[in-house]
Amino acid sequence: MTESAKDLQKKIDSYYWYHSFDFGNGLIAKGVKSFAYLKADTDILFDGLDIRGKSLLDIGAWHGHFSFAAKARGAGRVVAADKFAWERHQGRETFDLARTLLKQDVEPLVIDVPDISRATGQFDIVLFLDVFYHLFDPQTCLMNLSQCATDLLVVRTHHDHDAICTSTPVMVFYPDGYGDDPSNRWGPNPSLMYGLLRTAGFKRIYYQDHPVAGRTRGTYHAFRSDAALDRLVAAKPASWIDLSDPTVWQTHVRPQYAASSTAGQAGIRELAILSQSRSKLFKAFFASLRNKRKSVR
Ligand SMILES: C[S@@+](CC[C@H](N)C(=O)[O-])C[C@H]1O[C@@H](n2cnc3c(N)ncnc32)[C@H](O)[C@@H]1O
Repeated sequence: MTESAKDLQKKIDSYYWYHSFDFGNGLIAKGVKSFAYLKADTDILFDGLDIRGKSLLDIGAWHGHFSFAAKARGAGRVVAADKFAWERHQGRETFDLARTLLKQDVEPLVIDVPDISRATGQFDIVLFLDVFYHLFDPQTCLMNLSQCATDLLVVRTHHDHDAICTSTPVMVFYPDGYGDDPSNRWGPNPSLMYGLLRTAGFKRIYYQDHPVAGRTRGTYHAFRSDAALDRLVAAKPASWIDLSDPTVWQTHVRPQYAASSTAGQAGIRELAILSQSRSKLFKAFFASLRNKRKSVR
């Protein structure tokens, strides 16, 4: 590595990175999301799609990994939109640095998600990845920003552990945040996301569990119409679950009560303790009655 490359690597290392990058010539950004994790994330996003020449808006792009990945797959105009992270952690500098080093023609757009609407522009594809649950009013934002997607909206979101235990469409509010991040406000479940995406006007909606996180993180490919599906899908991946098929709610996306919910399991334990203590109480009550009768006799 030359002296100037060493200086550049030092500069890269001085930043906080959420996405990992291999910039070539030995220059690496080690992000929170490892290369393997990002590859899995990217494959379930783009596998099966032919995005060559398509326009794409990446909402909440941060360092821009998915915008650059779209370009590398031959996308046409690509716009990376963000605000929150670009105003923190030197987020905008890292996006600009990645764009320069990767030599990718991706347009930056500074915009707050609640301000995104049809007037922002029309794109064949809109990516809305891991942003939904950060917003105070994600439903209204989803309705408005979905107007930018002429053919496909891809949403990836965290799902709440308890919410995935029911097929009722629900979303859990975290007033103090989730995990160690106060900006994680909501935890929906697949039925809720399906209902919202249908309400936003999408006709064909496919679902995938996350390859690493499982049901607690879901990806939704929402197509406007059968024609949009035909325009974009070269070969439908076997992992896509068609949510319009009523049988999948009893099989592939059935509630995961005992399997994945620690809170649910705790709930079951509490109920068991309660019923045990109730039966103990009843036993004690009847025993005391018997004793009373004995003493009266
Ligand atoms: C968890 S990161 C996801 C980054 C990227 N989409 C991914 O999947 O790796 C959430 C992103 O949403 C952005 N974001 C959250 N709230 C926002 C808002 N109100 N306006 C614009 N961007 C926002 C953050 O800045 C951050 O880049």
